[in-house]
Amino acid sequence: MAVLRIPNENRTISGREAVTDYLGRIGIEYDVWEPSHPLGSGASQEEILDAYSSEIEKLKSAGGYVTADVINVNPQTPNLDAMLAKFSREHWHDEDEVRFVVQGRGLFHVNPKTSPVVGIEVEPGDLIRVPRGTLHWFDLCSDKQIRCIRLFQDPAGWTPWYTESGVDKNFEPVCFGRAFVA
Ligand SMILES: [Fe+2]
Repeated sequence: MAVLRIPNENRTISGREAVTDYLGRIGIEYDVWEPSHPLGSGASQEEILDAYSSEIEKLKSAGGYVTADVINVNPQTPNLDAMLAKFSREHWHDEDEVRFVVQGRGLFHVNPKTSPVVGIEVEPGDLIRVPRGTLHWFDLCSDKQIRCIRLFQDPAGWTPWYTESGVDKNFEPVCFGRAFVA
C-alpha cells in the first residue's frame, strides 16, 4: 500500500482510504489491484499482463489507453543511472503516466499547483495515474529495483518536458517505507 509524505507540512499519510482521498483531491488516481492468480517472481511479461487483464481492460476503456507493457528495471539494467536521471528532474508529459507496481518499489514526487509537494512511495499492488501536464519526478528506492505495468495512450507521446525549476533538489529522493509510519 502506498505511503504519502508531505515534507513541507511534516506529515505522513497511510491507509488506502486516506491515500486515495488525498491523491484524488490533487487529481491523482490511486487504486490497489489483486492478481487474478498468484504470480511468481520469475513471471513473464505475458503472465503478468494476463493476471491483471480485467483491470487493464477497464482502465484502457476508461482512459483511452491503447497499449500496455511491462518494464523491468534493476541494478543490472544497462545505463541505469542515465535512465534514472531522465526522470528524477521535475517534468511533465503530454500523456498520462500510468504505472502499476508488480515488484520492487519507487518514489514519485508530485508538485500540484495549489498544494505542497507530495512524495508517493509505491509498492507491489499499487496503481497510480498521473494525468498529462502534472509536474512530477521519480526515483527508485535504494535497492534500485522495480517492475511495472505501463499503459499508454500514445507511446510516441511519452516524452519528459523539463521545467528546470530545480524544485526536485529540495526533496530527498529517499524512500521512507512503511516502517516510517508509526
Ligand atoms: Fe514522468
